Amino acid sequence: DKMGDGIGSVKQQISRLFETSLKTTFPDEANTEPMVAISTQKFADYQCNNAMSLFSKIKGKSTDYRNPNSVGQAIARNLPPSDIIESTSVAGPGFVNVVLSSTWVAQYIQSMLLNGIETWAPLLSVKRAVVDFSSPNIAKEMHVGHLRSTIIGDTLARMLEFSKVDVLRRNHVGDWGTQFGMLIEYLFEMFPNWEDVGEQAIGDLQEFYKASKKRFDDDPSFKERAQLAVVQLQGGDMKYRNAWKKICEISRKEFDLVYKRLGVYLEEKGESFYNPYIPGVLEELTQKGLVEESEGARVIFIEGQSIPLIVVKKDGGFNYASTDLAALWYRLNEEKAEWIIYVTDAGQQLHFSMLFSAARKAGWLPENSNLYPKANHVGFGLVLGSDGKRFRTRSSEVVRLAELLDEAKDRSKAELRTRLEDSGKVAEWTDEELEETAEAVGYGAVKYADLKNNRSTNYTFSFEQMLNDKGNTAVYLLYAHARICSIIRKSGKDIKELMKNGTVVLAHPDERILGLHLIHFAEMVEEACINLLPNVICEYLYNLSEIFTRFYTNCKVVGSAEETSRLLLCEATAVVMRKCFHLLGIKPVYKI
Ligand code: ARG
Repeated sequence: DKMGDGIGSVKQQISRLFETSLKTTFPDEANTEPMVAISTQKFADYQCNNAMSLFSKIKGKSTDYRNPNSVGQAIARNLPPSDIIESTSVAGPGFVNVVLSSTWVAQYIQSMLLNGIETWAPLLSVKRAVVDFSSPNIAKEMHVGHLRSTIIGDTLARMLEFSKVDVLRRNHVGDWGTQFGMLIEYLFEMFPNWEDVGEQAIGDLQEFYKASKKRFDDDPSFKERAQLAVVQLQGGDMKYRNAWKKICEISRKEFDLVYKRLGVYLEEKGESFYNPYIPGVLEELTQKGLVEESEGARVIFIEGQSIPLIVVKKDGGFNYASTDLAALWYRLNEEKAEWIIYVTDAGQQLHFSMLFSAARKAGWLPENSNLYPKANHVGFGLVLGSDGKRFRTRSSEVVRLAELLDEAKDRSKAELRTRLEDSGKVAEWTDEELEETAEAVGYGAVKYADLKNNRSTNYTFSFEQMLNDKGNTAVYLLYAHARICSIIRKSGKDIKELMKNGTVVLAHPDERILGLHLIHFAEMVEEACINLLPNVICEYLYNLSEIFTRFYTNCKVVGSAEETSRLLLCEATAVVMRKCFHLLGIKPVYKI
């Protein structure tokens, strides 16, 4: 059997031992959840914190326990025998401190090396999730907000996928709505033979959008035609539908270029997809008594909100909220998702909170928002420029993502070249290697700079900062990883062979600290998943690289008596770092 496979994080394993003890020690207090955490003490690794609250529950009923400490003693005494735990001690009001067996930790690491890091995936209680992310609007600009959504959403999807959740990656593109009337009418006007023109003719869709908007605002007769075009389109007229398809197709090609460069996979189910479901869903909500008439519109009132959620506009048309109600219904009932995650800027917080309230009123979601099925809005802050205002690039008032990625890559390439010239290594590199590394580092830097912050805060976009090779940056981390790989390479040892026939030993204090940090990997991913916080992974990764540096400074690897074990620790660090990069959507580099 594979050690670690399907049994969850170390914390989950220790929790199960305490669960058993709690059941035997306090059979009358059934279903007491074990409260296990990483220890805050230097001399312990984990602790169990149940004693105090248990004592207050039982003191009236039993005279066996004088104080919380005696409760803690009993919990520790009744722990089932296990290879994981070296020793326990009880402190103060009954905290049970646990010291892990170094031998077990060492074996746990070796077994991961042999059987793969997948055996360290956390166990989550959810089977299928929708991650709704990126979701730009057709013909409008895909701005840095959408870049944030793309980067954060992709990472959340990767975290959940690693944890064996079936993830539906959904691109909820804005491909429906009144702006299409104006776009279609403008297409007809500018390109009478629009059916034959390629996308080059229309060129820049953002410019096209702007020009048609200007036409719409300036000419009342155009405006009238545009409004009629919406009716034709929504009525299913083939000519209008084809024109709509053409415009969507051009946008899609542009979006796909960005996704390809970022290595992000998404499945488009745009707003238009849910349109046929809206009437039925609104019918259901009306029958449940949720929908009311208000000032000519149909709305859902939400407790505590002065403004209702509008679900049918005055003119009878559907809107963003009606689409989201239908999409939520579809995801719950047709796609059978238990967790639905929406990644957008924090500005849409109210929209989603009203949407979820409506869904709870309808009985689609449970009242207790901790229970499944569950819906969460993952809001994020703004991207600011060095002037403290909304981030823009030089060439336009918005940020063109392709341009931004080009610049990141060009800068990282220039820096890499200088670095190689300085170290006299430039001849060891092919153009292709240089190109690939520059891309991995450049795009990695953009992603990491975004992900390392708590997503709800604004962050300042700075190429200088994100491409710095010191401090908490992707560049620093990618190079740290490459350096570990080169230690292993230069040792001349066959690492696969060492995994099978060598043994990991954690004797030196810095070896043990490194080993413990490594085995926290699964519970770290678990925490990042549960709280939907990618920065937890960045923090872990940065700490890992610092802990590794301390180990490498204090423990001689190549040529030492402990060489085999220490090379295996190097390899385990590299494997865990690579998995972190993978979860963050960053390509590792192996050579610097
Ligand atoms: N298209 C929207 C925007 O650009 C984001 C859509 C998010 N997803 C959703 N189901 N509402 O702001």
